[in-house]
Amino acid sequence: MQGVTVVDHPLVQHKLSIMRKQETSTAGFRRLLREISLLLGYEVTRNLELTTTTIETPMETMEAPILEGKKLVFASVLRAGNGLLEGLLDLVPAARVAHIGLYRDHETLEAVEYFFKAPSDLGDRLVIVVDPMLATANSAIAAVEKLKERGATNLRFLCLLAAPEGIERFTKAHPDVPVYTASIDRQLNEKGYILPGLGDAGDRLYGTK
Ligand code: PRP
Ligand code: URA
Repeated sequence: MQGVTVVDHPLVQHKLSIMRKQETSTAGFRRLLREISLLLGYEVTRNLELTTTTIETPMETMEAPILEGKKLVFASVLRAGNGLLEGLLDLVPAARVAHIGLYRDHETLEAVEYFFKAPSDLGDRLVIVVDPMLATANSAIAAVEKLKERGATNLRFLCLLAAPEGIERFTKAHPDVPVYTASIDRQLNEKGYILPGLGDAGDRLYGTK
């Protein structure tokens, strides 16, 4: 699928299978999501632009590669996005963070916004939107719309699981935003849950129900 990268690394797939199991504990789910975020983060940052700077090693002077441009932004879609965010910040500790509070209305499945806070210069930075689940895509579409309204022009979307229906809707709404996911599952059920999926990511991450 164009603009969609499935991260099929064996470690990602193994950890994801454990996360899917209903008997996996909250602590286990949280730890695995953090571990997977490191591997997904590696993939979503693979083609970041580099420049060089002159440094002195103990042996000689060299032109050493460093990341080009302003620090990137991780935009976490609350709540479950924070489960990916923590590991990503281990990988890129100097990254800036945006928080986007959205929840799905359980009747309409529309995304309802309750919080937004982001760096003011989004237009100068790569923005990586993170949320473990892309189901109907209502949340992801709304999050990216909001970031674009606030000036973001260079975005990527990183999730753990996606439904084919969600991918189709998201890529139609935001064809300029590449999607990275560990799996494209079979389908959505009538309540907008991903099958086979892993259940409600926020509830499993935080032990709520
Ligand atoms: C979950 C998930 C996504 C959204 C995906 O959040 O973390 O944000 O559902 O579904 P969609 O693609 O159909 O919009 P939820 O709304 O349950 O909120 P929570 O993270 O606070 O539990
Ligand atoms: N949100 C979740 O947390 N899980 C799903 O399966 C769909 C949306």
